[in-house]
Amino acid sequence: MKTIVVFLFAVVATTTTLELPSNFKRCKRSDPKVLECIADAARDAVISMAKGLKSFKILPLEPLAVSSMKIGESQGAVSLKQEYRNVKLHGLTKGLQVYNYQIDWNNLIFRSESFNPQVDFVADYKLEGKVLLLPMRGEGRCNITMYNMTTKHETHYERFEKDGETYMRAVKYFVKFIPKHITLRFDNLFNGNTFLGEEMNKFLNTNGDLLFKELQASYEETFGLVFIKITNDIFTRVPMNKIFM
Ligand SMILES: *[C@@H]1O[C@H](CO)[C@@H](O)[C@H](O)[C@H]1NC(C)=O
Ligand SMILES: *[C@@H]1O[C@H](CO)[C@@H](O)[C@H](O)[C@H]1NC(C)=O
Repeated sequence: MKTIVVFLFAVVATTTTLELPSNFKRCKRSDPKVLECIADAARDAVISMAKGLKSFKILPLEPLAVSSMKIGESQGAVSLKQEYRNVKLHGLTKGLQVYNYQIDWNNLIFRSESFNPQVDFVADYKLEGKVLLLPMRGEGRCNITMYNMTTKHETHYERFEKDGETYMRAVKYFVKFIPKHITLRFDNLFNGNTFLGEEMNKFLNTNGDLLFKELQASYEETFGLVFIKITNDIFTRVPMNKIFM
C-alpha cells in the first residue's frame, strides 16, 4: 500500500459570507451557453488569482506552493520512497485554457479539462528506492517539467445550508494529468556523485514517460487535495446563487 501525506499551508478561514470578487465572471444557468460561460469564468478566476486573493485569504497560484508531500514506497516498476519539501508548481496560470465543461446539476458533479503549455514541479526532494531495477537515492533540488499538459478535473460537490443560504462544498476532486512530454532533473543524486547522477538523469529522461505513468497517481492524488482546498475557499463562502445566477 502506498501512503500519501500532504501538508498545505494552513490558512485561517473566515466564516462570514463573502461576495465573489467583482472581476469574477458570473454565469446564468438559463444561458444556453452556460457551460462555455463557466469554462471562461473558471479560467479567468484562476488567472486572476496568480498573485493570490486577499479577501478570501487564498495564497498565490503562481507559483502554487505546497509545504511538503510524502509518498510511500509502492510495488511496481518504480518503488520509490519520496519526500518533497517547499514544493512549487510553476505555470498553472500561464497560457491556461479551460474547456469541455460538463455539469450534472442533480448530483453536483462538474467535469472539465484544462491545458497548460508548461508546468514545472520544483522542490527539495529526498528519494530512496528503485527505478526499473536500478537503485536510486539522493537529496537535493528537483524540477519535473510537464509540457503541453492536459488536466482532467472531476469535482463532486454537496449542498449545505448556512444562515438560510445554500452553499456548495467540494467533497471529492479527481485530477488526471496528461502531459505530452516530460523532462526530469534531480540534482545531487547519489550524494553528489556527478558521474552516477548524470547517468541516472539521462536514464530518467529516456524513460520519462514511463516513469511519469508510475508516479502520476500519487501526484494526482496530492494535487486533488490542493485543488479541493482552493475550490472550497471560494465555494463554501459565497452562496451558490451568487455564483450561478
Ligand atoms: C525547470 O526546468 C525547465 C526545463 O528545463 C525550465 O524551463 C524551467 O525554467 C525550470 N523551472 C525552474 C523554476 O527552475
Ligand atoms: C507543444 O505544442 C505546441 C503547439 O502544438 C508545439 O509547437 C510544441 O512543439 C509542443 N511542445 C512539446 C514539448 O511537445
